[in-house]
Amino acid sequence: MKDIGIFYSFRSVKTGQQVKKISKQLGADQIKLMDIDVATKADFLQFTNYILAVPTWFDGELPNYWDEFLPSIEKEDLKGKNIAIFGGGDQKGYPENFVDGIGLMASILEAKNATIVGFTSTEGYTFEQSRAQRGNQLVGLALDIENQAALIDERIKNWVESLKKEFK
Ligand SMILES: Cc1cc2nc3c(=O)[nH]c(=O)nc-3n(C[C@H](O)[C@H](O)[C@H](O)COP(=O)(O)O)c2cc1C
Repeated sequence: MKDIGIFYSFRSVKTGQQVKKISKQLGADQIKLMDIDVATKADFLQFTNYILAVPTWFDGELPNYWDEFLPSIEKEDLKGKNIAIFGGGDQKGYPENFVDGIGLMASILEAKNATIVGFTSTEGYTFEQSRAQRGNQLVGLALDIENQAALIDERIKNWVESLKKEFK
């Protein structure tokens, strides 16, 4: 397995805690932690394997920092890049927009020919609607601190094990 870039906002405390767990599970020597608040196009394009932290904000939208970064890679072809997405979401508070940010990001990157990896089962979550849902899967890992904090460690462990097989 080659390099893995983990992109997230260093200002986000909750997401930062999740990244720490994911990094530990992956093995520290293979990964680079990248701050999306200051990352440039060149910073982003250097990897083959990616983990993007995309919590859902507002009513089913991307966080501001992703909205601000994405135009810089608007014209890029991401063919050959393997991208896994995870993010916080609240299935009780936002059942009609549960982890929409994960789904929005997956669609944007697929339109640039990236390969999205790290799909998970919808089993164990209760919600009405999600842009991240495809059939009985989510296009990434949903972490619900508000309602299912006790399940987070196990979910991360299983997800990272599957990524180890999918990353190139
Ligand atoms: C104002 C606000 C809006 C939110 N909107 C959504 C939403 O639409 N869908 C969802 O699944 N979670 C939503 N959440 C829950 C967050 O995604 C969740 O708390 C996440 O862990 C936040 O991570 P962060 O603090 O690292 O950005 C919202 C939380 C807040 C405070």
